[in-house]
Amino acid sequence: MTMARTNTVIVLLGPPGAGKGTQADRIKREIGLTHVSTGDMFRDEVARGTELGLKAKAYMDRGDLVPDEVTIGMLLGRLAQQQGGILLDGFPRTLEQAKALDRALEERGSAVDRVLAIAVPDDELLSRLSGRWLCRNCGAVYHEKNQPPKQAGKCDACGGELYQRDDDKREAAVRRLERQRPPDALIGHYRSQGKLVEVDGQRSVDAVGDDLIAALR
Ligand code: AP5
Repeated sequence: MTMARTNTVIVLLGPPGAGKGTQADRIKREIGLTHVSTGDMFRDEVARGTELGLKAKAYMDRGDLVPDEVTIGMLLGRLAQQQGGILLDGFPRTLEQAKALDRALEERGSAVDRVLAIAVPDDELLSRLSGRWLCRNCGAVYHEKNQPPKQAGKCDACGGELYQRDDDKREAAVRRLERQRPPDALIGHYRSQGKLVEVDGQRSVDAVGDDLIAALR
């Protein structure tokens, strides 16, 4: 039996570049959950020039976490509109965020079902971030060496233009790796609830994905 119940809540944890977005794409297709990425939500707010986007941009450009009060408010607003199972990518990243999520789900008679933590060492993460290309149109993720598109600069899926994120430049990427590894308190929170599944992310995209899908079946 899979976990694709109507109120399923899955959390994907991992440092920047661990492969959360890459794996979320497969999980949402195979398990049938809605993918919600706080990074994508912030980038959308920045692109639309909203007040929230303006607040978040300075933190994102530096490679810092956006403050909890901003992030929690945004995510809980999104959760309130959600019908059906959800795959959270990049939220929670602090113990405060995890506790706020627990409280909000409890009010809906729900809870986090499983937390998938992808582990990858720093040197590999830096090479993944600096080689990453994304589709401006559909968000598909590529890597110039590990997962190159068939035609340079063009998305295989929709033909859209590929671009590199500003915060993947070396200085911001190094800072993200220093500041944005999932903290021990967050890992411990989910381990103590018996919900944590840890997966070795330093293998092929397919091998990592197979383990994640198996953990959800
Ligand atoms: P966000 O967009 O979530 O960035 P992130 O956590 O740094 O994660 P990434 O998107 O960089 O990496 P990923 O794990 O998705 O890896 P991917 O699959 O792309 O957040 C951006 C910013 O928003 C944050 O810096 C912060 O400021 C703010 N923010 C977001 N959420 C927040 C929160 N909850 N609280 C506060 N602030 C928040 O893969 C990376 C590359 O590796 C790709 O090129 C891919 O092709 C390649 N790759 C993937 N898997 C493999 C593999 N197995 N082998 C080889 N290559 C691989």
